Amino acid sequence: MATELIKNLARHVGGEVTIQGWLYNVRSSGKIRFLIVRDGSGMVQGVMVKQEVGDELFELANTLTQESSLKLTGVVREEPRSIGGFELQVTGLEVVSVAEEYPITHKEHGVDFLAERRHLWIRTPRQNAILRIRSEIEHAFRDFFYQRDFVLADSPIITPAACEGTTTLFELDYHGEKAFLSQSGQLYNEATAAALGRIYCFGPTFRAEKSKTRRHLLEFWMIEAEMAYFDVDDNMKLQEEMVFYVIQRVLERCRQELKTLERDVSKLENIKLPFPRISYTEAVELLKKAGQEFEWGDDFGAPHETIIGSHFDAPVFVHRYPTVIKAFYMKPDPNDPKVVLGADLLAPEGYGEVIGGGQRIDDLALLEKRIDEHQLPREAFEWYLDLRRYGSVPHSGFGLGIERTVAWICGLDHIRETIPFPRMLHKMYP
Ligand code: 4AD
Ligand code: MG
Repeated sequence: MATELIKNLARHVGGEVTIQGWLYNVRSSGKIRFLIVRDGSGMVQGVMVKQEVGDELFELANTLTQESSLKLTGVVREEPRSIGGFELQVTGLEVVSVAEEYPITHKEHGVDFLAERRHLWIRTPRQNAILRIRSEIEHAFRDFFYQRDFVLADSPIITPAACEGTTTLFELDYHGEKAFLSQSGQLYNEATAAALGRIYCFGPTFRAEKSKTRRHLLEFWMIEAEMAYFDVDDNMKLQEEMVFYVIQRVLERCRQELKTLERDVSKLENIKLPFPRISYTEAVELLKKAGQEFEWGDDFGAPHETIIGSHFDAPVFVHRYPTVIKAFYMKPDPNDPKVVLGADLLAPEGYGEVIGGGQRIDDLALLEKRIDEHQLPREAFEWYLDLRRYGSVPHSGFGLGIERTVAWICGLDHIRETIPFPRMLHKMYP
């Protein structure tokens, strides 16, 4: 008997197949039992008729509890009213393991209860849809860069220096030497970009965030690209094309999942190129007009980003932030050195910053000065300074947080659902 994934049942209408999965739910009506089975790829209802399968199999089905594992054989038929559009007319059942009483029942549970059982929570249809969309998004990013001749250059996780300030470092003991978990692969990306031209990395990054918000994780995944000879405008153009590409991919391939999540897809369908761009200074004006008390030079908080995002009802680039609030490596605008050639991409619908990026300082003396001003240890950055000593070029790059992007595309309230096992303040079980 051919085993098949539930998502591929359409290929077998009229044929007999075996699916391997877990019992999601069962109900009986006289001499018929309806077994709803999930296998990770989808769900299907098996219709078991006593007369057809015999007493023994019919009684066996009665011993099955929620999440018992099983192999179900049957004839595939189209059934538009049934979950997934197909049904299995059951001919065989093999029980693999009868589950103990399952803690996550079909009634509503509180989020703390579910979070403690994240290893089981991920089996539910909603979490399944989110994790499938995440997977599609990750593939889409890789395809985008592959099509554009970028080289995938992995950056290290254990590093001797801080990239994004010293307040969120996870420190570790590297056999007696002080080391940190990477906050960003950027500095290494600048080296690989000088070696390979256009590169990206994709990996986990770590920030010892002390705040508990709906958009901060302590471990998150970042897509980071770095391009030699790109200026701040080339950088934004690449980013908007990338984000647009990824959204189209999800719209094209994840309709069912978006439906499960009750996502208002028109919000995604209405996204157009190019994305609006405003300077930080213009954004401050906009905030003041919206009645916010905001001083030029302050950093945006989540409410400010929401106001800016709602104003455009589109992803929007905010560029040329004050030099004082941005990282040491950002290149000052030659026309106005109070601001840097950095740009963040803010997502609409209150999702806020999903990308941080910009043009990097390419002048050796200025970079040395900044490292001193930021009181960073010079020795740890000597290799990075070499990139300005040997063939320095204008270059730019960015980092996009995968989880915030998944939250936005899926329309989720909280980042904790965007990754199989979230790491949050005081929460790392399971
Ligand atoms: O703006 P950030 O800090 O930029 C950098 O790390 C640059 N070095 C990237 C680069 O230019 N190569 O972080 C980039 C993105 C943010 O826009 C956000 O989407 C995400 O990473 N991010 C987080 N996501 C979840 N939890 C956190 N604690 C995050 N911190 C940043
Ligand atoms: Mg940022």
